[in-house]
Amino acid sequence: MQYSQIARRTRPSGIRAAQTERPDMISFSKGHPDPSLFQVPRLQGILDALLSGNGAAEASLQYSTGAGIEPLRREICRIMQERGVGCGPENILITNGSQQGLFMSAMAFADPGQHVMARQPVYTGALQVFQTLGLSVVEPDAADASPALLYEIPNFHNPTGACLDLAARTALVDQVHRAGAILIEDDPYGLLRYEGEDLPGLLAIDAGRDSIETARTLYLGSLSKTVAPGLRIGWVVGPAAIISHLTDLKYVQDIQSGTLVQQLAAGFLKDDFNGATEAARSVYRDRRDALLAALDTRFGARGGWIRPEGGFFIWVELDGGIDAAALLRRAMEKGVNFVPGSAFGTGGRFASHIRLGFSHSDPADFDRGIARLAEAHDDLIVG
Ligand SMILES: Cc1ncc(COP(=O)(O)O)c(C=O)c1O
Repeated sequence: MQYSQIARRTRPSGIRAAQTERPDMISFSKGHPDPSLFQVPRLQGILDALLSGNGAAEASLQYSTGAGIEPLRREICRIMQERGVGCGPENILITNGSQQGLFMSAMAFADPGQHVMARQPVYTGALQVFQTLGLSVVEPDAADASPALLYEIPNFHNPTGACLDLAARTALVDQVHRAGAILIEDDPYGLLRYEGEDLPGLLAIDAGRDSIETARTLYLGSLSKTVAPGLRIGWVVGPAAIISHLTDLKYVQDIQSGTLVQQLAAGFLKDDFNGATEAARSVYRDRRDALLAALDTRFGARGGWIRPEGGFFIWVELDGGIDAAALLRRAMEKGVNFVPGSAFGTGGRFASHIRLGFSHSDPADFDRGIARLAEAHDDLIVG
């Protein structure tokens, strides 16, 4: 079969490969939220109301607007306001998850062969977008300083868990204006801070210099980590002229995001969002602490890691250059998995790193899981 160039460039996710399951597998490979946090009765109540009574169902099941229904865009404006970005509905495009926003933003501003500047390691889903579009990923210190795009996860990076400091944030905004490029701020974990102080986001800094209409930053938000990924609700925030252009691109792709699910999200955000994010922070803070404790007691000097202040991940550098792919094979035999670092790098980088996700598995298993990982590591050393 002769596939198109774009289809030939598309690569499978390096994360999925690590997700082979067996019943007793203790999994650190996922970036999924904990399903026990899904607010099912509340969502059910909103859905019931949407699908019953006085013509409501017809409106919910009909086409609506390409940019997203206005009540949802207004709720997103409120969330953005709390994150320091003043904007109106004309600055918001609702997408099918932030992944679609990422694809559309990159597609809108970069042509095949152009460069995207991103600090490695890079979120696998972003790497896949860049590869599919034929863009080459260059490091911030690369000699070629003319990227079409800059990409950054400033808060609780996937996979490193790290946050960018204020000076680096400001420098990125300076750089994107100097380069005449577009900066994509990918922020699905921004509300999941477990300790420390929030720093202004990249769009907040950019829009704060003049106005959102002169910003060169596009902010990507998502309900996937705080409400439910199955809703596929994400959003892009930026200058109204760019949002209008992206809305045309979205129309070509899928006309609009589902009306019913947008109404459901708008209803939930109105009254329940703050409570849901507070509950999520509390659960994930405990999980992070449980995984850090298990690493300290069971993994010890076999690797190094930093304590993330939020998000879902701990990034471990294995001591002595141990090959993470070989470790994964051995670990899976012992019933534990993770994502090898090479999924987040180009040209075989991060072969000695692993990403451990703590959001999805039962923390009661963390100690046993890390003990299995330590055993697998020691088996490799012995031989
Ligand atoms: C950094 C980052 N960006 C984007 C996404 C995509 O999320 P969504 O479910 O909103 O498409 C993820 C999901 O794991 C992510 O970690």
